[in-house]
Parts: sequence; structure tokens; C-alpha cells
Amino acid sequence: MAKVKITVRSNGPYRVEDPEGLIEMFDANGNKYDLTGKPAYSLCRCGGSVNKPFCDGTHSKVGFQAAEAAVKQEAPKPVENNPAASSPAKG
Ligand code: FES
Repeated sequence: MAKVKITVRSNGPYRVEDPEGLIEMFDANGNKYDLTGKPAYSLCRCGGSVNKPFCDGTHSKVGFQAAEAAVKQEAPKPVENNPAASSPAKG
């Protein structure tokens, strides 16, 4: 099992589980967030938290909905060689 696990919660935050404290997280200015003693935390993805980047539960109050799911993407179907369909219209 991976040492760090990130779960995309349904209509909610990114749940980060890092029991060994391997993750370092920085703000836009390069200041490091103190994650000491936090083996797990949630990161806001709704944009509504007043404690960004961490989730404060606001997502449930604002009705945040997300549609992501971990699914395999299908390979693009090959284009069929159909000369009749690609010929210019005759008129
Ligand atoms: S995801 Fe929870 S407050 Fe934004």
C-alpha cells in the first residue's frame, strides 16, 4: 500500500492520509504549512473554506457538487476509412 493516500471525497474535499508525515505543503509564497501531528487532513476543493487550503465543512453548506470519478478512459476509436463520407458533396 502507498505511504500516502489521497481520496477524492464525493462532493467534498481531497482527503489526505499521510501517517508518516512525508508530505510538505507550501503556500504561493513558499511558506511551509505546519502539518506536524496531522496524519490526515482534508483540502478544500469547493473554494468556500475560510481556512484554505484546508476544508472547514463549508462545501456541505454551499451545496458543492463534483462529478469526478476514477474511471479508465477509453482509447479513442480509430477513424474509419470511408471515402464516401469524406468526398465533397456533388450537386
Ligand atoms: S471542500 Fe470542504 S470547505 Fe471546500
